[in-house]
Amino acid sequence: MKEEILNDYQVQQLNKQDKLPFDLLLLADESRQAIEKYIHTCDVYALQNEERIIAVYALQTIDTATIEIKNIAVAEKYQGQGIGTFLLRDATDKAIEKGAETITIGTGDASIKQLYLYQKEGFEVFDLKKRFFLDNYPKPIFENGIQLKHMIMLKKDLT
Ligand code: ACO
Repeated sequence: MKEEILNDYQVQQLNKQDKLPFDLLLLADESRQAIEKYIHTCDVYALQNEERIIAVYALQTIDTATIEIKNIAVAEKYQGQGIGTFLLRDATDKAIEKGAETITIGTGDASIKQLYLYQKEGFEVFDLKKRFFLDNYPKPIFENGIQLKHMIMLKKDLT
């Protein structure tokens, strides 16, 4: 990640009363209704300075051994500069601090860039939530010109 971003912005956990950065959360999950279902039971971390938040991720405890990254997003202007990679590593460190043995993340079956990034960072496919995007979203979602159907689940061993 670029030196000036590292110097200017810090990862901070948002307090429960803080305003959630829905503009960013919606980049990763296009239905506010879907986000509302999990975000209030997540710890939300923002890459921010005093003026703005440029990236976000949300961690949810699934069970005593497992933490899931439910949402990760970088503002469009800042994408492709290593911030996503940095945040995935930061989320992994946080999961280890919380005592998790496994960190998981789910993404669409047509989300090529995300699948590339997560596997490059050591996540492995372990499950498929069939029809997830067909059954849980009001409108069809397209990525890379392909309609999302199933959610691909990936995990990384932290032990
Ligand atoms: N097309 C293909 N590959 C790309 C592109 C692109 N447009 N942009 C970057 N990449 C590659 C980079 O080259 C890099 O690989 P490299 O290290 O081998 O060069 C890799 O993707 C990661 O790049 P980063 O710069 O670390 O990632 P970035 O800061 O862009 O963040 C993220 C990745 C979070 C997916 C960001 O693009 C984003 O916010 N996208 C929209 C929201 C989203 O899809 N979030 C994830 C949904 S799944 C979930 O939330 C659980």
